[in-house]
Amino acid sequence: MDSIISQKISSWDIGRRFGQIFQNLTEFTYRAIGSNPLQSLQILWISIFPVVFAFGHEAVELVLHKKNLKKPKAYTFIGIGDGLLASEPEVWKVRRKLIEPFFTTKKMRDHAKHMYEEVKSFGQQLDGEVGKPVDLVHQIHTSTLNIILKATASIPLDDLSEDKERYVELVNKVEKNAVKRVVNPFYQLDWMFKLFKFSQVYYKTIKNFEKATDKILSRRKQLLKSSPSNETENQDFVDLLEGKVERQGLYNELVTLIGAGHETTAVALRWLLFNLGNHLDVQEKLYQEISEVFLGDTPLNDTDKIKECIYLDQCVKESLRLNPTVVGVSRELEEDIILNDTKLIKGSICGVASLAVHHDPNVYPNPTKYDPDRWSPENASKIPKTAFIPFGYGPRICIGYRYAMLELKIYTAQIIRKFSLRSTRPHGSVSMLYEVTFQPSLPLEIIMTPRNNNQSNL
Ligand code: HEM
Repeated sequence: MDSIISQKISSWDIGRRFGQIFQNLTEFTYRAIGSNPLQSLQILWISIFPVVFAFGHEAVELVLHKKNLKKPKAYTFIGIGDGLLASEPEVWKVRRKLIEPFFTTKKMRDHAKHMYEEVKSFGQQLDGEVGKPVDLVHQIHTSTLNIILKATASIPLDDLSEDKERYVELVNKVEKNAVKRVVNPFYQLDWMFKLFKFSQVYYKTIKNFEKATDKILSRRKQLLKSSPSNETENQDFVDLLEGKVERQGLYNELVTLIGAGHETTAVALRWLLFNLGNHLDVQEKLYQEISEVFLGDTPLNDTDKIKECIYLDQCVKESLRLNPTVVGVSRELEEDIILNDTKLIKGSICGVASLAVHHDPNVYPNPTKYDPDRWSPENASKIPKTAFIPFGYGPRICIGYRYAMLELKIYTAQIIRKFSLRSTRPHGSVSMLYEVTFQPSLPLEIIMTPRNNNQSNL
């Protein structure tokens, strides 16, 4: 029976066709924004589930409200069990409190040191890439993984290089498989999904991902045995949760933090460099600011000084607005809500599309333009909080958003003070494809030219 169903289904190639529809969602989103996004409410069937998509920023408050903590089942398809991103409200409440200390202001100072250490050697690697068109996808993803593995499991930045490359590949595969599962009506229920051949690939990839994580944990143990650390500030993420969460829970949280903590930032950085490469004027202004705040080759690891870089903050935010990394967020409503005079009943799945919210012409005139001045102190005060949601909104907002912003700023500052960038394609020529994160339809190629004044010492 297994093979008959598998053959039939694979010959219909339903998954692929659903995948294509899903990828065309960008077009759908733009069309749905319409002239008055605040009035827009659309139902999109994602496999067997009708998902109500709300497009105006006013809807964000209602859908991501503190009473709506429950995520749809599809979140678990990325293989993180009850990790924070997917957990049920009761588990989530306890774990969120336990994990928050990993992101305190004091802890961010330690994180900044690791980030800069990695970014410095990342910058040196780029010397081999100057003068030719490159999409730094490989370099950026492994580099952000280095940072998160150091912070979460004390893995030295230059350790386990081959395993890390494999890990990046696995995360990518897990995400692609999850999207395939989300969009295929036959893949929703576990028992039915297991009838299809694809489920074997899906579960095997998750198994490999678990094995790779086990290896990281063994390596951590080995390293700690040889040099035990008893200083509180050297505590990693595993230390923070050990003894407070049972073994499987700790494991799920670790995998969640590693996955969510490097892939999203890497994709965001690629779009950001691409946007800067299309705007030389912005880049020069940014370069001036960075050179003034961080004289010469001053290390970029002082969080207070990074805060002084107002224009850097604007450039990063504007890129996250124009090219949000995460395609959107959804909730299974825990109570009835009224949206644009329509009653949505408890249990409905309701999504908020970040791209639509970020392209609302009423909030962002000329929305497809990369314009960091939207975020100048005088302009930013006019933007409603719910109109900028790259990290989500409400109680389940990204727990790592300050971490991600800091990391993006340190990378950008280091790259911009070392190189000037030119993108090989205009912004509008690259579409955003719906996967777990928005992937570019074409490589985000930039050409890096060294800035002669300080190239050698950074
Ligand atoms: C540019 C980088 C990032 C983007 C765009 C991003 C985006 C998001 C979004 C949109 C959510 C909300 C999901 C929802 O409401 O359903 C989220 C949640 C989450 N993110 Fe991030 N994220 C980024 C970086 C990070 C980093 C660096 C970490 C950890 C170090 C992280 C860990 C998490 C976790 C654990 C959650 C679940 C939070 C909860 O439910 O309490 N993210 N992220």
